[in-house]
Formats: sequence, structure tokens, C-alpha cells
Amino acid sequence: MERLATTYLGLELKNPIIVGSSPLTSSVDKLKKCEDAGAGAVVVKSIFEEQIDHDAAKMISETEGFVVHADGQDFLEEVSRNYYIDAYLSLVEKATEAMDIPVIASVNCRTRGSWLDYVGRFSEAGADALELNYYILPSDMKRSTQEIEDEYFSVVKSAMDQAKLPLSVKMGSHFTSLANVVKRFDAMGVDGLVLFNRFYQPDIDIEKLTTKSSVVLSSPNDYTQSLQWTALFSAYLNCDICASTGIHSGETLVKMLLSGAKAVQVCSALMKGGHKVIGQMLGDLTAWMDRQGAETFVDFRGKMAHKRMDDPSQWERAQYMKSLNVEF
Ligand SMILES: Cc1cc2nc3c(=O)[nH]c(=O)nc-3n(C[C@H](O)[C@H](O)[C@H](O)COP(=O)(O)O)c2cc1C
Repeated sequence: MERLATTYLGLELKNPIIVGSSPLTSSVDKLKKCEDAGAGAVVVKSIFEEQIDHDAAKMISETEGFVVHADGQDFLEEVSRNYYIDAYLSLVEKATEAMDIPVIASVNCRTRGSWLDYVGRFSEAGADALELNYYILPSDMKRSTQEIEDEYFSVVKSAMDQAKLPLSVKMGSHFTSLANVVKRFDAMGVDGLVLFNRFYQPDIDIEKLTTKSSVVLSSPNDYTQSLQWTALFSAYLNCDICASTGIHSGETLVKMLLSGAKAVQVCSALMKGGHKVIGQMLGDLTAWMDRQGAETFVDFRGKMAHKRMDDPSQWERAQYMKSLNVEF
């Protein structure tokens, strides 16, 4: 398996498949199952900023009648927050003890919230790295692009200062100048960027007239956005790119590596097809390397990146000038 070894966030991975933060990674047993199935690393199910704050607030409201002093409220709030953080840190600690592959902790954050005070404790719990699942839905009509981007950089900088661990940002693609944002994260010194997260998308139930979740899991055709932007950026950044969303097969894994990804994250493919998908993808990768005569990864990683192409404009095409080999 050494032929498949890679590095990501400065960590040694025996292969480039990381199981992404999801219900597949929410307990030690589930994390161990990913390792047993051959994963190169795991990202633990995120602790959510709103989970910490909401649960703290709920605990306060339930005890409101008994807490008359402001200090008492502060105390309860702190105890409640610590409860959730401690439970998460204990999960990370037990996982790192039970497993040999790297364990990446994950925080889902939306604001400069109290979660930042706890980030320093992830390294003490033994996490190998920290992934920030950070997204601001740009739905506030009063907030400018600049304001939102400044907040991103400020929060990520604070997390980097506190974390004492390699740090990656799992991001969305909704930026006016995605290239500029990515370059600035890189210049700040983040260790990795996960391109891209797949967000919850509300839908409408037309009979009940309620909102509902749209399809939760990705499909095998959903990988192309990540592929394009990985290819566009990978050779121009110091940080690592981890491709994510829609990676369901060995073929797509190979495409991501050719575009310059150091590793990939998988989630829906395993939720649909079971953990055996990891072995199948690695088998397909090895078979492809054999066909190409590639002994190791470095022989081909990033070969199809924008910077390395004779005609890089292929990655910049955004419009259909004519229908491509499609008869209507
Ligand atoms: C049910 C479910 C729960 C998820 N929970 C998290 C989470 O807690 N933190 C996170 O960063 N991503 C979470 N994700 C996103 C996945 O890690 C992944 O980025 C996304 O599903 C796209 O990858 P895929 O196409 O391989 O599924 C979740 C995805 C699903 C389907």
C-alpha cells in the first residue's frame, strides 16, 4: 500500500481517502470501522457552534427560576458549554487512542463565537489536525462582500492562533472572487483547503406547504465543481487541497489527484454503498497506476492542473459556445 501514500496537512496518510465529517464518523466504533475499511484518515463529526450556544442557552432557560444572579447565569453557561466541549474532546481522545490513522477534529462555525475559546484544547485531546467547517450564508442584504470576507479572514486567523495544530478550512464556493479568497487563505498560512462543502439546501413540500430538506447525499455527477477549482488552484498554492463532494468512484479519485488534490474526502459514496467502497476505490486507483506505469503518486499528481497544461484555457471555460457532441 506504500505506493498510495500521501501527505496532507503535514500528516502522513497511507492513502488519499479521508472519510469526511458525517454520521459515519460520530463515534469511536464508527471511526474505527472507517480505519478497518482502509481509510487514510478520518474527520470526526463536527461539533457545531450553535449546538454549544443553543444548548447552553436551553440549560439556562430551564433553570431560570433558580438563577437570580447574573454570575449564576455565567456559571451555568460555562458549565453547559464545557459539558458539550468535554464530550467532544473525549470522543477525539478515545479515537486517537484506538486508531493508528490521523484523526482530524472538526468545528462547524458561523460567527466569532465562544467556540474559539476551546480550539486550543483539541491538540491536548490528541487531534492530529483541525478542520474548520466555516460558512456564512450571504443572505443579509446589508452586508457587503468585503465585510463578509473580512470576517472569514479574521475568524480563521483567530482559530489558527489558538489551535496549535495544522488547520484546514472546509469552504463553500460562493465568493465573487474565489481565487482571491483562496490565495488570501493560503497567504495567511492555512495548511489546507477542502473544496468544497456540500450544504444543507431547503426544499418545499407542495402538499404540506412546509419546507423540507432537499436530497442529502451527493450523486456521482456532483464532483465537477470541485475538480475544476482544484485544477485551477492547486499548482499556485502552498497549502494542500483536499477535494470533496461527489467523489464516488476510483475514476473520480484519479481525476482529483490528476487535478492536484493531495487527498479526497468521501461521505455519500459510503453512506450509499457501504465501507467496502474505500477498498474498491483504492483497487481502481492501483489498477490505473499500473496501466499508466506510475510507481507512486508523485509521478502523476497535478499533471492535469491548470499551470501544467499546454492549453490551460480548458479549465477556464464557463459557457457552452455550441452543444458538445450532443444531438437534440
Ligand atoms: C448527513 C450528513 C451530515 C454531515 N455532517 C457534517 C458535519 O458535521 N460537518 C461537516 O463538515 N460536514 C458534514 N457533512 C458534509 C460531508 O462531510 C461532505 O462534505 C458532503 O457530504 C459532501 O461530500 P460527499 O459528496 O462525499 O457526500 C455532512 C453530510 C451529510 C450527508
